[in-house]
Amino acid sequence: MIIAIDGPAASGKGTIAKRIAAHYGLAYLDTGTLYRAVARDTLARGGDPADAIEALKSAKALDPRTLGDPRLRKPGLGEAASLVAKHPEVRNELLAYQRSFARAKSGAVLDGRDIGTVICPEADVKLFVTATPEERARRRYIELKGGGIDLSEAEVLCDIRRRDERDKHRAAAPLRQAPDAHLLDTTNLDIDAAFRAAIDLIDAAMGRAGYAG
Ligand code: CDP
Repeated sequence: MIIAIDGPAASGKGTIAKRIAAHYGLAYLDTGTLYRAVARDTLARGGDPADAIEALKSAKALDPRTLGDPRLRKPGLGEAASLVAKHPEVRNELLAYQRSFARAKSGAVLDGRDIGTVICPEADVKLFVTATPEERARRRYIELKGGGIDLSEAEVLCDIRRRDERDKHRAAAPLRQAPDAHLLDTTNLDIDAAFRAAIDLIDAAMGRAGYAG
């Protein structure tokens, strides 16, 4: 079973995806970490994430064992990740890893921007998780503050809007809801309510598809 979860920054998709994976006993891949790691390695070499050749070099050399690095969550890397993510050659280089993860025997949950549209168009269930930019900025602000990062809520909102624009309007695999994805707007839902709503959508979709349980 493959569950594809897409949506914009700080929509809650990562937390929901992790809980869904634990609930159904599936493996979990946060595909944003791949782009963040490519951005990290490009910057570490003194390269420019907006340069396709530099970013591709990092994507080709990417070591999946470094994907657990907590420093990948640093806010500046989100911006740099969205720059490397624009390059079709980088996306193409990361495709095989994501597809083979998704097709592992026990099934998987993947979250990102293009899982339901490009990486796993055959996914059993697709969710598109969203919330207003203001609510997403509020959540990301609280998360960053908890991690000791001192940015104003207005700065976080500005970063989120800039990334939304770039992710939605790029030519390669833009952020969009797949036609067969279920929309989950978490603006007025806390994480438990959002998780329950996601499980209800998945169980209903699987029931319709004739899965047991
Ligand atoms: O957690 P947050 O939503 O802030 O970011 P992320 O999911 O770690 O993704 C960082 C950036 O990577 C996004 O802004 C996208 O530009 C890019 N990305 C992508 O293009 N495709 C994916 N499947 C996942 C992330």
